[in-house]
Amino acid sequence: MTRKFPENFLWGAATSAPQSEGAQYEDGKTASTWDVWFEKEPERFYNEVGPKDTSLTYEKYAKDAKLMSEMNLNSFRTSISWNRLLPDGKTVNEKAVLYYRDYFLKLKEQGVEPIVNLFHFDMPWWLMEKGGWESRESIEHFAYYANTAFEQFGDIVQHWMTFNEPIVHVQCGYLGNDHWPQVNNFKQAVQVAYHTMLAHAAAVKVFKEKQRKGRIGIILNLSPVYARSDKEEDQEARGNSELLHIKSFLDPAVLGKYPEELVTMLKDNDLLPAAESGDSELLAAGKVDYLGVNYYQPLRVQAVNKEKVHHPAKSPSDFSRAYDWPEKRMNLYRGWEIYPEGIYDIAIMLKDEYENIPWYISENGMGVSDEERFMDEEGIVQDDYRIEFIRDHLDQTLKAIDEGANCFGYHLWTFVDCWSWLNAYKNRYGYYRYDLETGKRIPKKSSFWMSEIIQRNELDR
Ligand code: GAL
Repeated sequence: MTRKFPENFLWGAATSAPQSEGAQYEDGKTASTWDVWFEKEPERFYNEVGPKDTSLTYEKYAKDAKLMSEMNLNSFRTSISWNRLLPDGKTVNEKAVLYYRDYFLKLKEQGVEPIVNLFHFDMPWWLMEKGGWESRESIEHFAYYANTAFEQFGDIVQHWMTFNEPIVHVQCGYLGNDHWPQVNNFKQAVQVAYHTMLAHAAAVKVFKEKQRKGRIGIILNLSPVYARSDKEEDQEARGNSELLHIKSFLDPAVLGKYPEELVTMLKDNDLLPAAESGDSELLAAGKVDYLGVNYYQPLRVQAVNKEKVHHPAKSPSDFSRAYDWPEKRMNLYRGWEIYPEGIYDIAIMLKDEYENIPWYISENGMGVSDEERFMDEEGIVQDDYRIEFIRDHLDQTLKAIDEGANCFGYHLWTFVDCWSWLNAYKNRYGYYRYDLETGKRIPKKSSFWMSEIIQRNELDR
């Protein structure tokens, strides 16, 4: 059976400035937490490949734009590096302006619509030294940065995003040690999450007040939460996890306020963040026009052992426990579950509970290690596993669209293999392989397959 995608469906791929630009300290860019962290502890990064070795977009963007167009992509998401545009937080770096303007224009000239995000885990070091998102000051600094970006690029860019996966810098930086500052403290984590959403709202507010052209949104990683069973305790764990992992960002972004149950939960555990008067109004002003949804794998949970949990809670694991579903289908090359039906469930949730807001799949994809194993004699990675992965997720997307979901696009993570934080280039995700030695971009089989899907705008099953 062949099914059509809606007309003008956005087909593209996504990356971020810190993961692809390179040119670490060139042309006035100052350090982000990643640059400094790598200098302090290079051994934490896979094969000691750090942020300076990312995929050279800074020099190759024009060629990349051409490759995208040859692949029939009509859109592409990347981010601006805050510390490139405003190296000290205040002064506009003219070289950065020239670079990003030309980058976005080159994309447009190739018929590739840029979607531009402002923050992708790359906290400027000067702001981290003042406490990063923990400090209330960060809100104002971010709003200033956002306004600068709108002023400098608003004539070219029509699709803006404030944050990519804002829960990730909270989880990895304040409930774990995969992001700087490697703090493990629930209360601080909640404060950071709260300031992040206020900063998001401040950026949206400034965008709307100045009546900028285009639309503004946020990118959230929305994994549906599935419980081990229908038992009350497992369902309670599911509800808790949904509040902490989904609604904590989705509700303020789409509905302009936090859910009551979340506030009660935090209050009961002495976790409420410090707030100021006017915050609720600010959050209400932060409602987005559209949403990007990143989806890789679902969340599966089960009841906590009530005798063992802390009260007040010390970590999210006091509210729900991870559940390892024995029947899961796995991406063995990355250790992640593959569950395409998750896309459908998210789509229906957004339709029924979130005003059927327009959204697109802003990241989906399959990380695979040692992909050179799958190269043919011509050096083309035969990534049939990725083709199957994409096809299964597109299939579920179409099913949801048929049922009224407001999904308008699909972006793969990523176009050219890029740097994945502590994992560096361990897992590859791109339509194009990145040769670390030469900087060359080499198409993978999936790029040819996808190019045809896009051209036909339909999928065979
Ligand atoms: C996402 C993140 C990206 C990229 C991707 C694949 O969570 O937004 O930056 O690293 O995972 O690992």
